[in-house]
Amino acid sequence: MKKLIKNGIIVTATDTYQADLLIENGKISCIGQDLAVGGAEVIDAKGCYVFPGAIDPHTHLEMPFGGTVSKDDFETGTIAAAFGGTTTVIDFCLTSKGEPLTNAIQTWHAKSKDKAVIDYGFHLMIGEINDDVLEELPVVMDEEGITSFKVFMAYKNVFQADDGTLFRTLVAAKELGGLVMVHAENGDVIEYLIQQALAEGKTDPIYHALTRPPEVEGEATSRATQLTGLANSQLYVVHVSCADAVEKIADARRKGFDVWGETCPQYLVLDQTYLEKPDFEGAKYVWSPPLREKWHQDVLWNALKNGDLQTLGSDQCSFDFKGQKDLGKGDFTKIPNGGPIIEDRVSILFSEGVNKGRITLNQFVNITSTRIAKLFGLYPQKGTIAVGTDADLVIFDPKIERIISVETHHMAADYNPFEGMKVTGEPVTVLSRGEFVIREKQFVGKLGHGRYLKRAKYNSEKTDVRQSNSLTI
Ligand code: URP
Ligand code: ZN
Ligand code: ZN
Ligand code: ZN
Repeated sequence: MKKLIKNGIIVTATDTYQADLLIENGKISCIGQDLAVGGAEVIDAKGCYVFPGAIDPHTHLEMPFGGTVSKDDFETGTIAAAFGGTTTVIDFCLTSKGEPLTNAIQTWHAKSKDKAVIDYGFHLMIGEINDDVLEELPVVMDEEGITSFKVFMAYKNVFQADDGTLFRTLVAAKELGGLVMVHAENGDVIEYLIQQALAEGKTDPIYHALTRPPEVEGEATSRATQLTGLANSQLYVVHVSCADAVEKIADARRKGFDVWGETCPQYLVLDQTYLEKPDFEGAKYVWSPPLREKWHQDVLWNALKNGDLQTLGSDQCSFDFKGQKDLGKGDFTKIPNGGPIIEDRVSILFSEGVNKGRITLNQFVNITSTRIAKLFGLYPQKGTIAVGTDADLVIFDPKIERIISVETHHMAADYNPFEGMKVTGEPVTVLSRGEFVIREKQFVGKLGHGRYLKRAKYNSEKTDVRQSNSLTI
């Protein structure tokens, strides 16, 4: 059935204007003033913004980590994402050395199939480069549409790859049209600092942060950007947490390197003192990179404003406090890293960013949706509001006030790191390809509605081809 969204204010990365919007066959078919369409279901968006569905470029759903598995899977994780205004997620597919890449990808398809309520794609972890991997990469790109690769510079003896692997991945990505993503922390130095702390009997959660100081993130970011310049390749630095890393990304961009940076809500509004909470509660706030001293937050906000950082990911990787985070009682190195963020990512950026005048409304759309779609080969099918694009839309009431709480969130994890925080602005209705997923704040979506997205290559001309729908009113 046709749907007509009336009286809303449409916001894209460049424009803000009042118009009605018609949806047919899952796509936007017309945008205009005072549209009247026979037989269409009318959705009144008066007083609300209409945003392109947000895209979360960084999730770990049902991911094995530290002897356990992240709590939210493709069902709870994508439902929570939709409540928060996110209509696409790109999840990290982990690989194991010696295992064919396609096996790992099949494992991720099995996790997500028939579960996701919104569309999704995969990035692929590269842990080693050898002839088999080099042979498989073009196939993975062409047949699976996986066009971004993740290299970990940290988590020694688990995920960490060496500099040779990073460099060869950058070279291969350049040749093939892929985007290399890095977790930039110096894993070798962190391992030394950890062993030193443990030897001194320092086992509390705060030592997770103190053994991963900003310098190890700055150093790894610098190394990754230099290698990118040398390979004349392209790089996306995930979860940037501190001034040291922002500076290195900005330097690289000034030199003309093709380097991009993502931050996450936790780094924008939480700080290192949270790791000192009593009764082991600090474990709830263990991320890698860790939360920083508060002053870093201003640097991150400024970087989003001035363009040195371009995107916001959630790094969704949730663990229960009871039964998962507490694996690290008495040894901070055993606390699973990560938290439940997928639901509140968009609201926090709106409330703390737009409402507080730190970024504009159009920047907000660019940071949560448009830029991400462009970088990861989804634009313009996703990431904007235009005729012919997927009707992934969020009707967002900027006036609703909400207190973030585990009592009301839709994630599976048993706590919320933003507990008690007030945010103003909330998605009311969310559509995925023209179908309601959230309607008047109720979940009405279907498991398995979400489709796997084959993504275009980095910077390829294909990303600018729009399949236009002809309009019949
Ligand atoms: O602490 C984090 N960031 N957990 C998720 C895994 C990763 O490094 O992104
Ligand atoms: Zn990471
Ligand atoms: Zn991550
Ligand atoms: Zn459906």
